[in-house]
Amino acid sequence: MSDKITTHAAEEDARNEDLQIWLNGRCVPKAEALVSVYDSGFMLGDGVWEGLRLYNGQWAFWDEHFDRLFEAAKAIDLDIGMTRDELYSALLETQSANDMTTDAHARLMVTRGVKTRPFQHPSLSRQGPTITIIMEHSQPKIPRPIRLATVPHIRGLPMTQDPKLNSHSKLNCILACIAAEKAGADEALMLDVHGFVNTTNACNFFIVRKGAVWTSTGDYCMNGITRQKVIDVCRADGIPVYERNYSLVDTYGADEAFLTGTFGAQTPVSEIDGRQIGTGEMGPVTKRIRALYKALIEARA
Ligand SMILES: Cc1ncc(COP(=O)(O)O)c(C=O)c1O
Repeated sequence: MSDKITTHAAEEDARNEDLQIWLNGRCVPKAEALVSVYDSGFMLGDGVWEGLRLYNGQWAFWDEHFDRLFEAAKAIDLDIGMTRDELYSALLETQSANDMTTDAHARLMVTRGVKTRPFQHPSLSRQGPTITIIMEHSQPKIPRPIRLATVPHIRGLPMTQDPKLNSHSKLNCILACIAAEKAGADEALMLDVHGFVNTTNACNFFIVRKGAVWTSTGDYCMNGITRQKVIDVCRADGIPVYERNYSLVDTYGADEAFLTGTFGAQTPVSEIDGRQIGTGEMGPVTKRIRALYKALIEARA
């Protein structure tokens, strides 16, 4: 495996070769965790998902993740067919089947299920939904500052596949990521429909200017749970934080920039479009926010 810098780089862990995966009601060995080629998720990207993290025996902010999942399923008119408690029990069952207590990452996916014919209409999904939980031992690498490139792919308006939906079809984000890689960067910085800086292809985006933390208004980007926690810890700790429109000019001139997401918590940014950000290393405000976020997780464990 390459040692490319990404926001989702984890230490190699041999135990991940031998996992139990929850699939439609029971845990099965990874090699047997197979889904039909007729599955709506495989065929059309018709599904929604959540990424959750286990810290010290607790699934961090699992209630917020479940809120977002059930809301997304309702929005795409997909009946999960399980209560929140049943789904949470499935998460715990998978955790226990894999003997995990901390530093694990779960990808909980719900698709519209298996179709009778290989066509788009949702009514063709007659067996389902398909629900699966992939749970891996996962120790994020100490974050090395990453490089971003602004790409032509934008975050669209909510009437065109609302960018707040954590859907299986991530093609817009994947195209953005490919464009960033071709430009020599690690991840894509995406603008909104007005040209304001919005988010990256897989994480939310923040800058720090003169001690104040800025992020986008929240329109056009994923309503990231880590994003909200960062805003909350800043407010609680007296760090000025603004959800506002800002441009690439503000961004290139920032003292610090960082990304947020469940997997990597806060990942520093060294360079954007060939411009070094601050010193190019993780800055003091990012360090402080990382410590506050860690303390928040520990307080809930
Ligand atoms: C496009 C995008 N932005 C941001 C995030 C981060 O969200 P969270 O902090 O809830 O993990 C995700 C995670 O799924 C995402 O897919």
